[in-house]
Amino acid sequence: MDKIVIRGGNPLKGVIHVRGAKNAALPLMAAAILADKPCVLHNVPCLHDVFSMDKLLSFMGARIDFTGRYMTLDASGITNPEAPYELVRKMRASFFVLGPLIARFGRARVSLPGGCAIGTRPVDIHLKGLEALGCKINLDEGYVVAEGNLAGASFSLDFPSVGATETLMMAACRAKGLTRLTNVAREPEIESLAAFLNAMGAQISGAGSDMITVVGVDSLDGAEYEVIADRIEAGTFLIAGAATRGDVTVLGANAAHLPAFLDKLREANAEIEAGEGRIRIAAPNGLRAVDFSTRPYPGFPTDLQAQMMAMLACADGTSVIKETVFENRFMQVAELHRMGADIDLDGNAAIVRGVPQLMGAPVMASDLRASAALVIAGLMAERGETAIQRVYHIDRGYERIEERLSALGADIERVRN
Ligand code: UD1
Repeated sequence: MDKIVIRGGNPLKGVIHVRGAKNAALPLMAAAILADKPCVLHNVPCLHDVFSMDKLLSFMGARIDFTGRYMTLDASGITNPEAPYELVRKMRASFFVLGPLIARFGRARVSLPGGCAIGTRPVDIHLKGLEALGCKINLDEGYVVAEGNLAGASFSLDFPSVGATETLMMAACRAKGLTRLTNVAREPEIESLAAFLNAMGAQISGAGSDMITVVGVDSLDGAEYEVIADRIEAGTFLIAGAATRGDVTVLGANAAHLPAFLDKLREANAEIEAGEGRIRIAAPNGLRAVDFSTRPYPGFPTDLQAQMMAMLACADGTSVIKETVFENRFMQVAELHRMGADIDLDGNAAIVRGVPQLMGAPVMASDLRASAALVIAGLMAERGETAIQRVYHIDRGYERIEERLSALGADIERVRN
């Protein structure tokens, strides 16, 4: 298995291009199931999670061509609305196929995704919402077996879950009549999915607010769409720039998608210039501690919490970080301790006391964003070498991260064991 080896201490400097967002691309790929004609996606990132969704859709009978960043998906040949455990367990987002399969075929059999490192991650809201739309749901040997002709309804989500909002929006597109979803997630990826579905002929309004209205249509057409920039990848590179006291410009990044995050970086004493399609960061005067809580959008994204913690490990003062979205998302803490960080955990809070410097150490990646935090910590460490094992977690969400960070002056390489 590969490992990533970093000799830290170099300030990152230069320009880096952000890729298309994994969390936008995956639901768009699932949404292609709803059309009887081919769909085309541009700016698709070359990531393991995208390959996993490709494999699942192909298994069901879709024809997918993925060349460069361009993907055509033809779901007209899907005959088997079944997502097997072997494919779903590799990636939770496979569960996104449930809503479109029911909407198109009136039935689906999709493996339950199970928990993962960051928490139990139930899918009860997805299922309750589908039941509200008239779906009969049974659990059979680890599978969700769903059937029924969908009809519009009003449904309020217990929590603004991103995945459940996407499942229900896709299902409601072909439900008969009007669906009103309240307390929905407002993430930019929801808006992008709604825009794609509308381009396919759906009638969705309100995406980006806390209420979405969908008027069901009989069929959806193919459509062409460009995947939005990955705000989490952009945020990760910005943190890396500030944490190494560098000067980094992320091209293609959309500052409007990172409001609370950019505010916190400024509060931490980073200097930020945000322009059309670019964000530049530098921290010439050092970084100071800040407190923050993760929240659904437009709050501070849970997917940037671990990386921000790595940066704050060497900021001046004590930061308090609260994780309110997932119950077990401090997996990076034990590894950061091994690099010299001073962090205490108290329930869903982490108390981060800034230390003058980190040192390199062998560490283990546990999940996608925790691994990004370890990369940042490795870049910050002013002595020693950091060797990160289990880098397949990083490859799920960051394309060739070592090559792109090297181009900014980092001493980082992938070593095949
Ligand atoms: C998506 C993102 C993930 C991000 C997360 C929160 C994708 C592919 N993944 O994950 O990167 O960290 O949003 O921004 O887009 N919950 C329930 N019942 C449900 C559904 C969710 O209790 O039926 C809970 C979850 O356990 C979690 C919280 O709601 O505690 C938020 O989860 P959710 O917004 O659904 O995250 P995902 O869509 O899985």
